[in-house]
Amino acid sequence: MSANGNETVFTMEATPIKYGRGAAEEVGWEVRRLRMNRVMLVSDPGVIQAGITGRIVELIEAEGVEVEVWDRSRVEPTADSLQAAADFARDGGFDGFVAVGGGTSIDTAKVSDLIATHGGEIMDYVNAPVGDGKKPPSPLKPLLAVPTTAGTGAEATTVAILDIPDQKIKTGISHQYLRPDRGLVDPLLTRTMPPEVTSSCGLDVVCHAAESFLTKPYDARPKSDSPDDRPPYQGSNPIADMWSGKALEFGGKYLRRAVKDGEDVEARGAMMLGASLAGVGFGSAGVHIPHACAYPIAGLKHEWQPPGYPDDHPFVPHGWSVIVTAPAAFRFTYDAMPGRHKEVAELLAGGPISDADENTLPEILISLMKDVGAPNGVRELGYTEDDIEALVDGAMKQQRLLVGSPKDVTEEDLANILRESMENW
Ligand SMILES: [Fe+2]
Repeated sequence: MSANGNETVFTMEATPIKYGRGAAEEVGWEVRRLRMNRVMLVSDPGVIQAGITGRIVELIEAEGVEVEVWDRSRVEPTADSLQAAADFARDGGFDGFVAVGGGTSIDTAKVSDLIATHGGEIMDYVNAPVGDGKKPPSPLKPLLAVPTTAGTGAEATTVAILDIPDQKIKTGISHQYLRPDRGLVDPLLTRTMPPEVTSSCGLDVVCHAAESFLTKPYDARPKSDSPDDRPPYQGSNPIADMWSGKALEFGGKYLRRAVKDGEDVEARGAMMLGASLAGVGFGSAGVHIPHACAYPIAGLKHEWQPPGYPDDHPFVPHGWSVIVTAPAAFRFTYDAMPGRHKEVAELLAGGPISDADENTLPEILISLMKDVGAPNGVRELGYTEDDIEALVDGAMKQQRLLVGSPKDVTEEDLANILRESMENW
């Protein structure tokens, strides 16, 4: 026990990752190794249309393993849409799960696996106070994640995010048993991603890495009563720093290139690996203000039709909903840990910076946003000053994230951050 009653312990856990061009071609071998005989494969219509899912199914079936495809993962999954997948999983007699797609498909597979293994309803497991916060009593059936975007890092994390439309909030299920057993990270799978998707996903990676690097240290939080109560987002620690630090370096060096030229496999690969690295980093340390603000920004209005995305429904892509408040958020948190803000700026810039102040990191982020065609602020996404109160309310509901801010954040602080974020340039 530390003298002040604070936490003295942190844990380091990471999903085993198999990375590189052609890694996805080994999916059949991996499925066999995990002793799966009947697989529920979770995917989404876009990935199926790109031909990726079909190829993966072929490779698994070639090993004599049965596959049933769940093709209805939707962007911004709700408790209802996840429950439908979970019902399918529970009734299907599966002994293993494969996710092929973005964060949504991977999260849907995590939740399907949870319900298929332990029964019950989704809301039993959703974080309290929104759900009952029940913990899965033992490990789940094996889950293999094959990401097709370079963003969420969902293959490396212990959370599944979902929308609760009647409460207008996003929340999640988080537990270490939700972590996939392995990720197959293959840069060849992202080649068809439009530049806008690459931009949004890549900026999500940068925010995961920056926020987790700049989160309140694990030993600044009161010690948990029992190991089971230690939160998955533990606060910054030396091991998470290594993962997030490398992801920042990759984001600064390769994101512009990946957006500019989809065929730049080196840059694509680095961003994809960066997404997994940041996934491990923030999966341990956590994210805070920009992600807390992103939930209401994505959830309150569904008016904006993002360029480069399917035009069937207006929404704000996750990475862009996060990055728009990042410059102002880090201007706000600067004085809590100036040295670490400078470090993040240097990692992104790829070299030492002599005179850093509270504007240095925000300026570096803004220049990156401009270069990769990100929206310039919250206003562009359909909001005005009149919406600030509602946005603040939504962000304040994300206390699970806001506790990670390196300094206390009040409603007024969030209102200021959102006001400053209306236009970043
Ligand atoms: Fe994110």
